[in-house]
Parts: sequence; C-alpha cells; structure tokens
Amino acid sequence: LDDLLAEGVTGRRVLVRADLNVPLDGDTITDDGRVRASLPTISALSQAGARVVVAAHLGRPKGAPDAKYSLAPVAKRLGDLLGSPVAFAADVVGPSAKSTVDALADGGVALLENVRFDARETSKDAAERGALADEFAALADAFVSDGFGVVHREQASVYEIATKLPAYAGGLVLAEVEVLRTLTGEPKRPYVVALGGSKVSDKLAVISSLLPKVDAILVGGGMCFTFLAAQGLGVGDSLLEADMIDTCKRLLAEHPEKIVLPADVVIADDFSAEANTQTVLAANIREGWKGLDIGPITVERYGEILAGAGTVFWNGPMGVFELAPFADGTRGVAQAIVDSSAFSVVGGGDSAAAVRLLGLPEDGFSHISTGGGASLEYLEGKQLPGVAVLEG
Ligand code: 3PG
Repeated sequence: LDDLLAEGVTGRRVLVRADLNVPLDGDTITDDGRVRASLPTISALSQAGARVVVAAHLGRPKGAPDAKYSLAPVAKRLGDLLGSPVAFAADVVGPSAKSTVDALADGGVALLENVRFDARETSKDAAERGALADEFAALADAFVSDGFGVVHREQASVYEIATKLPAYAGGLVLAEVEVLRTLTGEPKRPYVVALGGSKVSDKLAVISSLLPKVDAILVGGGMCFTFLAAQGLGVGDSLLEADMIDTCKRLLAEHPEKIVLPADVVIADDFSAEANTQTVLAANIREGWKGLDIGPITVERYGEILAGAGTVFWNGPMGVFELAPFADGTRGVAQAIVDSSAFSVVGGGDSAAAVRLLGLPEDGFSHISTGGGASLEYLEGKQLPGVAVLEG
C-alpha cells in the first residue's frame, strides 16, 4: 500500500478487496469488527485522492442475488465509520457498478454488491473466475488486497484479479501476516493454543500440524466431545463426530501430555438459554443431555496454564457463548489470556466476536486477527493463494 501511495493515486480508481463478512441479525450488524479493520486502508487511499471501489462478500449465497446476503447495511456502516457516505452499487460488475464507479469523485468510496452474487467468483473453473476478474479489472486501475479473512480462497476478487491489475498488499494483510509469522517462527515458550469451536473435523489438520510445535493445546467447544469420546467417555447428546474418533485417539496416544481436555462441563437438557443445566465431571455426562460449555474446574486449570504461557493463540469459543448460561467458559479463558503477560493472538471471526460481545478489552490481546480459516491455514503451513499471488 505504501508503494502505491508513493506512486500517487489522485484520480486513480483503486479496487480494494476487503473482508466485510460480518454477523447480521436481519439487517443489523451485530459485530462490526471487520468493517472497522478495513478502515485504515480505505481511508488512506481516499485521503490521498483515490477513487476507492471496495469489493467484498457476505456469507455464502448460491452464486445469485439473495437479499439476505446484501452488503447494503455494510455500505451504510462503512459510511458512518468513515464519516462520509459510501455509494452502493446494486450489482457486482453490471450497469450499477459501472455507473457508481464512473460517478465517484476523487477521494470518494463505493462498495460493490456481494461478489458471491456472481457465480463466477467462487467457480472451480479458473477461466470463469478469470472472466469475472477481467470485469473487475475494467472498473479499476490498481488492486489492493486487504481482506485477510479471505486470502485462503482462490476466488476471482482475491486471486485472479491480482494477475490482471498492478496489485498491492493492504496494511491489514501485511500486519496479519507479520503477526502470524512470529507464531510460526520462534514463539516465546511455553507456546499454548486454546482451541474451541463446534466441529473437530475443521480443526484436526491444524491440531496435527501444531502439535509438534506447541507445548499444550487446551481443547474446548463442541469439538471437545469427540476427544472425550475417544477417551472412552459417554458424551450423551453432545456434538459428536463419530468418524473422527479414531483420529482423535491417535493424536491423544501420540501427544498425551500436550492435548489437555476438559475435566468438567456444563450440560443442558436443551439447546436454549432456558434449558435446565448442571455442571458435571466430564466422565458424568448424562444420557439425553448435551455439553454446551466447559466447567469451572476446567476454566481454572486452563487459566493456570495460560498464566504461565509465553505465547498464546486462541481460536474458537469454549462454549455456546451467545447463550448466557454457556458463556462462562469462553469468558474465563479469554480473561485468563488478557491477564497473562503472553504474546497473545486471537484468530477467527467467532473468537474475535466473542471478545467484543462479552465486553473484554480488545487491547488486552496483542493481536485480534480478522481471519478465521485464513489464520488457521497459515498456521497449518498451507500457502495462502491471495498472499502468494502478491508475492509472486
Ligand atoms: C470468514 O468468515 O472466515 C471469511 O470471511 C471467509 O469466508 P468463507 O469461509 O465463506 O470463504
């Protein structure tokens, strides 16, 4: 971005790929962290006189317009945060996009409609993605990749576009990669990872590649029940991925001292805030009940381990924190990270949202990443196409 600004951008059209994939309740944004994270790059370009065209996705529409995934509410919030209105194009690369971009004044900002309303954005066919990227390229003179949360996707507005226009890394992408690089380099020990979230199948690859590099992985969230089942415990009606049990058994056998599992859990007779709840030892989960949070003994134990850590990476809530009776595990682990003097990185949309929704101080963490899947894939050692294409 600095290189582009140094070249001078007054009057030039700059396409910025941002990650504005925010949680919505109807058309109300419940956590605008990703919109705020996109501001520095957009403001810097706008203040330098560029005509800024922002491209982004929201959710996973099926390649066609779908009102519930419209970016219109995000355009409004972006304008409010920037302090000047953002023009909104009602299509991706169609007549509205063209006329909106044509009408931009120097320093003006426009947001295109959800790029995933065009099926070519996520097509498996590189030629189709390339054709869409050509249409994006016709709207701009330069490209800035600033949507860190989406750089692990080989998609038209992330990857192909960078081959069609002079391409630059935005400040957010640079900052995120720099922080994650410290975790894959020589992190200060002990290096402790807290991993939650619902699906163990999403996390097994990262667990396998992290295990040799870290000192401990503290497991929570829905995924812990497949590990508990792998230890031979009954898990009642808790989330369970039966086909993953063998892999979990193998990992536990290979690294018994590194994988730390909950000693107690909060169980409920229903998935609701009004359910009857009990806190039980992990070995005593009742038939017909489901585990929805880690328990207080576990929070204390995880807290002690986190207190002694030199580096912490946290991804995924420890329980169903959106429902008050099951928020204490996530709050407790997050608070322990805030209280520790470790270099701490929060990775992931859900964990970052949890920090804000539970009212934890954002400055209590060294870095809150905007990328969930992207940060995990980076830590797994995978190449991120949207970064590689800029380096290449
Ligand atoms: C995310 O929410 O992790 C990013 O916005 C990427 O979204 P995706 O998983 O739908 O590609």
